[in-house]
Amino acid sequence: MSVKIAIIGGTGVYNPDIMTDIRDETVATPYGDVQLKIGSYRNRPVAFMNRHGEGHSVPPHLVNYRANIAALKKLGVKYVLATAAVGSLNPSMQPGHFIFVDQFLDFTKSRQTTFFDGGSAGVAHIDMTNPYCPELRDILSRAARGQGLISHPYGTYICTEGPRFETTAEIKMYRLFGGDLVGMTGFPEVSLAREAEMCYATIAMVTNYAAGISPTNLTHQEVLDMMVMNSENIRKLLMQAVVW
Ligand code: HPA
Repeated sequence: MSVKIAIIGGTGVYNPDIMTDIRDETVATPYGDVQLKIGSYRNRPVAFMNRHGEGHSVPPHLVNYRANIAALKKLGVKYVLATAAVGSLNPSMQPGHFIFVDQFLDFTKSRQTTFFDGGSAGVAHIDMTNPYCPELRDILSRAARGQGLISHPYGTYICTEGPRFETTAEIKMYRLFGGDLVGMTGFPEVSLAREAEMCYATIAMVTNYAAGISPTNLTHQEVLDMMVMNSENIRKLLMQAVVW
């Protein structure tokens, strides 16, 4: 049976504990093998992938985004819910809030960003006017409202190369460019999902105000702590969204 729905768990979202009958699966792709879990939630098969691998061992710039999306495609996935811990540049998007991102700005530097590498892979220029799936974003907004969570239906996500956090000057520049949120993993996951003709949405959760806006220096631990504090809300949101 093909698996239509996938969850990509980012920082702090490591357990597919909404699912039952979970089995480990290794999916071979032209870009490498991918380990993931397949289970079911209310009789629907759901795939769960840890973006950062076992024990958060893969940093954002080394995630094999092409293999991950190719593996989901091979399983037959049509809908992807991807979680992302983000810093906020927008005072109205506060720690603990959820944002169903509608645009991105790409500031990455070293990533393989396309399946269309020429030669036998072909050349294609895909439309990116609206990179995130409006249907899924709408479902997520309704699910958040149903659960009493504070959410925002729009937001521009800045993707940095990482793994370091940003400078104060970079964050000022990103604000001038219209960025609301900053993270390290949203791109090229979103555009590869579009190339693979999937309906993809990011569930961004604000863990901190970005560098220079936050009154303190940033640590990965504070990002993790905030994700742990909100793990029950993320779980509720995913449970509701998967059975729309
Ligand atoms: N910057 C980049 N990535 C992040 C941040 C941040 O402030 N918070 C969580 N992920």
